[in-house]
Amino acid sequence: MKQSEFKKRRKKLLQRIGKGNIALIGSASIQTRNRDVDFPFRQDSDFYYLTGFNEPDALAVFIPEREQGEYILFCREFDEKKALWEGTHAGLEGATAHYDANDAFPIDDLADILPGLLENKAKVFYPMGRNSELDHNLLEWINHIRSQSRTGITAPSELSSLDVILHEMRLLKSPGELKLMRRAAEVSAAAHVKAMQACKAGLFEYQIEAELVHHFIQNGLRAVAYPSIVAGGKNACTLHYTENKSKLKNGDLLLIDAGAECDHYAADITRTFPISGSFTDPQKQLYQLVLDAQTAALEQIKPGLHWNQAHDASVEVLTKGLVELGLLKGKVKKLIKDEKYKQFYMHRIGHWLGMDVHDVGDYKVNQEWRLLEAGMVLTVEPGLYIPADCKNVDEKWRGIGIRIEDDVLVTSQGHEVITSGVPKSITEIEALMQAV
Ligand code: GLY
Ligand code: MN
Ligand code: MN
Repeated sequence: MKQSEFKKRRKKLLQRIGKGNIALIGSASIQTRNRDVDFPFRQDSDFYYLTGFNEPDALAVFIPEREQGEYILFCREFDEKKALWEGTHAGLEGATAHYDANDAFPIDDLADILPGLLENKAKVFYPMGRNSELDHNLLEWINHIRSQSRTGITAPSELSSLDVILHEMRLLKSPGELKLMRRAAEVSAAAHVKAMQACKAGLFEYQIEAELVHHFIQNGLRAVAYPSIVAGGKNACTLHYTENKSKLKNGDLLLIDAGAECDHYAADITRTFPISGSFTDPQKQLYQLVLDAQTAALEQIKPGLHWNQAHDASVEVLTKGLVELGLLKGKVKKLIKDEKYKQFYMHRIGHWLGMDVHDVGDYKVNQEWRLLEAGMVLTVEPGLYIPADCKNVDEKWRGIGIRIEDDVLVTSQGHEVITSGVPKSITEIEALMQAV
């Protein structure tokens, strides 16, 4: 991502904060794994969105129309010994020279400098309740300023959620963001193809996971967007199954939900396919039903339609199909009203996608479902999960779990599926797997 894009975002944010106010946002911190080993560092998405600064122990401050500059970055000072052991870091000079901060101060001096920046500001925008240390310090600093009121200094009188402004911005993706999302989608789709080709009975789920991760990393995408789900047979009925250690068996389906991250942007793809390369008849029937539900949902993705229409379309197709196949009994309308489909389809059609796999952005505005707009990206992922111990359906359906998930960009004309690089029709999947 170019620095100019981060600058554009800061400009927009500064406008929305307004003169006389201030905004603060902290970076993520390093999490210890054990003793002196840390978990891989992942920057806070909001912080990265505004700064492009990929270091821990940092805090960005935005003050519209501040004479000495509107963007201040507190960060670690350059430390030669640290650079030798852990690699280089920007330091104060780098923060201004390479990250466009107008001023940079040592993070260790935060408590001395920040209260001064809060003086005479009306409103403080910050990510409320996300960092207890910042929550606590902010109130202490404000109290301290208040105690000096006889000198004529005023303390901020309002705390406001920065999320409201920032998450609306993040919901609409720019061309620069879409380029990264397309890359994440393309590499992840190709990894799913590799997994289909590598799949055979006798392998373990983790060996298929290794194929996926191998492809991500070979293509320079070292982070997964979320833990990969590789679920053979009835394991697919556990929605967040990540054990990935069972042996694959002919006659079972394999559900893979996996995506890579490209420069902090996620892909999120699910495919379900037969381990042997050929669907059995019951699998075919349920699979086609889920695919039809996805097609119906995709038809509802265009500007001006509301967020929930795709979900309603999937519920209608799935309920109707479940009645036709004998898994539900009764009138479709009543079954939908009584939410009977939820025993087999218990999640929603999808979610926003972006820097976070379950991305930010409200789904309702003023209590109404949000209207889709060009530039939004979401997943469309209907599924059916028939528990292995489900006594009230024919045995042939039991233990089948199917989900089909694609990543979809809302365009001015309608939508574009950006994960179409991995097949999903029965014929295409069987042809791909049987060609190996
Ligand atoms: N991979 C998480 C989800 O599909 O929502
Ligand atoms: Mn998803
Ligand atoms: Mn997923």
